[in-house]
Amino acid sequence: MSQTLKIEEARPLELVTGQRASAPQANTAANTAAINVDHVFKRFGSKKGDVQAVSDASLTIARGEFVSIVGPSGCGKSTLLNMIAGLMPVSDGRIEVLGKPVKGPVHELGVVFQQHLLLPWRTILNNVLLQIEVRNLNRAEYLPRAQQLLKRVGLGDFAERFPDELSGGMNQRAAIVRGLMHDPGVLLMDEPFGALDAMTRDQMCLDFHQLSREQGKTVLFITHSITEAVFLSNRVVVMSPRPGRIEEIVPIELAGERHVDIRDEAEFTRYTRHIRRIFEKMGVLKEERRS
Ligand SMILES: Nc1ncnc2c1ncn2[C@@H]1O[C@H](COP(=O)(O)OP(=O)(O)OP(=O)(O)O)[C@@H](O)[C@H]1O
Ligand SMILES: [Mg+2]
Repeated sequence: MSQTLKIEEARPLELVTGQRASAPQANTAANTAAINVDHVFKRFGSKKGDVQAVSDASLTIARGEFVSIVGPSGCGKSTLLNMIAGLMPVSDGRIEVLGKPVKGPVHELGVVFQQHLLLPWRTILNNVLLQIEVRNLNRAEYLPRAQQLLKRVGLGDFAERFPDELSGGMNQRAAIVRGLMHDPGVLLMDEPFGALDAMTRDQMCLDFHQLSREQGKTVLFITHSITEAVFLSNRVVVMSPRPGRIEEIVPIELAGERHVDIRDEAEFTRYTRHIRRIFEKMGVLKEERRS
């Protein structure tokens, strides 16, 4: 098998990640929020001085919502995600996940990190199954699901290989499978498609859009791509340069299904242009004007 992802193999992630559930229920007051970030600050202390990474961030994500965060490099996106996952304490403020205050690692979440963090001495299959082992779940019970998910992302023939035998994009796909293994209701994804080639990235985008809609997953998704954020999301959170503040939250109300071609339509480009303008106003995007 070639080392590039077969597009038809990558498609139906949704078929193996659980039953059909209700459509996204964004902004339904009756639902307990999946994630609640309340006036959160993060400072990193060092001998060379403190770094204020996140400044007064507040954000509520409803169950079933797909929310993306876009912002310049170093603005605190990963820091915010790590605090929500309970992997890093807040300096100030409060975070709740599924109604409970975050005080340590939150096991109900699925997390896909910016770096794939696969263990080099474990095969791809065993890396994916680590998610099950650390939760003391039954490995044998989850083995078919692991194999099925790996196949769906084009890694069916690579389950017994080691990470250094695979490309960066392939390892990242394995990391995505690891994040999905225990079928979490809430997914935190930190630039999960960053290492993928453009075609595979488009395909994964489509798959994740379907996944979130059909199964009511709550997704917090970090990306550098404004187009990806608008395509995927119910809302896009725009962050300022460091110290990262939430500059604006843009609701995305696109009519009908989100098919690939929607990216060429006027209502889609209105959103991407609006978000670009926010970055321009903050001095993040500068256009060179010819005299
Ligand atoms: N563990 C740490 N100790 C000290 N400073 C840190 C630590 N983690 C992050 N920072 C600092 O906090 C700021 C925000 O970092 P973060 O990784 O959250 O940015 P980011 O928005 O995810 O950037 P990128 O888009 O490049 O991934 C940066 O200035 C970074 O140097
Ligand atoms: Mg980051």
